[in-house]
Amino acid sequence: KRLILIGPPGSGKGTQSPIIKDDYCLCHLATGDMLRAAVAAKTPLGIKAKEAMDKGELVSDDLVVGIIDEAMKKPSCQKGFILDGFPRTVVQAQKLDEMLQRQGTKIDKVLNFAIEDSILEERITGRWIHPSSGRSYHTKFAPPKVPGVDDVTGEPLIQRKDDTPAVLKSRLEAFHRQTEPVIDYYGSKGILANLRAEGPPNEVTSEVLKVLSS
Ligand code: AP5
Ligand code: ZN
Repeated sequence: KRLILIGPPGSGKGTQSPIIKDDYCLCHLATGDMLRAAVAAKTPLGIKAKEAMDKGELVSDDLVVGIIDEAMKKPSCQKGFILDGFPRTVVQAQKLDEMLQRQGTKIDKVLNFAIEDSILEERITGRWIHPSSGRSYHTKFAPPKVPGVDDVTGEPLIQRKDDTPAVLKSRLEAFHRQTEPVIDYYGSKGILANLRAEGPPNEVTSEVLKVLSS
């Protein structure tokens, strides 16, 4: 399967991705994770992306399209993939269509994580992540076994620099203004599946699996 996950910050895309990935043997391509790795490594790409990310704005279409184009060439992504956080603008969606057309493939389904904005601040401000794997925890909703430590590797967890109430506000604005039109774009293609993302994680997982098996 070739899947896209769309939803506002904190809607659960990164949380649900590993479950879908394991069930369907897909590769997980999260532009946010890849950009954060580039920023941490201070690569030319990371240096270009950092300013926009810190402000909660989108980085340029050309940058992220380039990352995805490169990442999708991996052998492990040939059978299928989950795109988490991409495309986020209609231009990105059009470029993705062109890319897939060249390969003779197309997107099967777009999962829209529908959720009210008011729920997101608590999710975002309580999040702790394990940077190298992208695993995320929540102090209240999904605490690690030992506070501040990754369950799998024992390595320290960190908070994302953009996970503050002020930066969340601009991330949400970017979502409504630039990414919501992408939802309509796929709606008009007939491949959009809406799911309720407000319940506890296991309920959201059931919603995801229901949509994928239909
Ligand atoms: P990105 O990393 O994609 O961030 P985002 O879209 O803001 O999404 P999040 O990662 O915050 O949310 P999520 O849905 O993955 O939430 P999670 O599952 O972790 O992008 C970051 C930045 O990079 C952007 O601002 C932009 O600058 C740049 N960028 C990235 N892609 C780009 C693109 N295509 N174009 C341009 N720029 C781009 O859950 C959040 C928390 O809630 C966790 O703590 C989790 O444990 C908890 N939680 C999850 N589900 C539940 C639940 N059901 N109930 C209770 N708690 C839950
Ligand atoms: Zn995420």
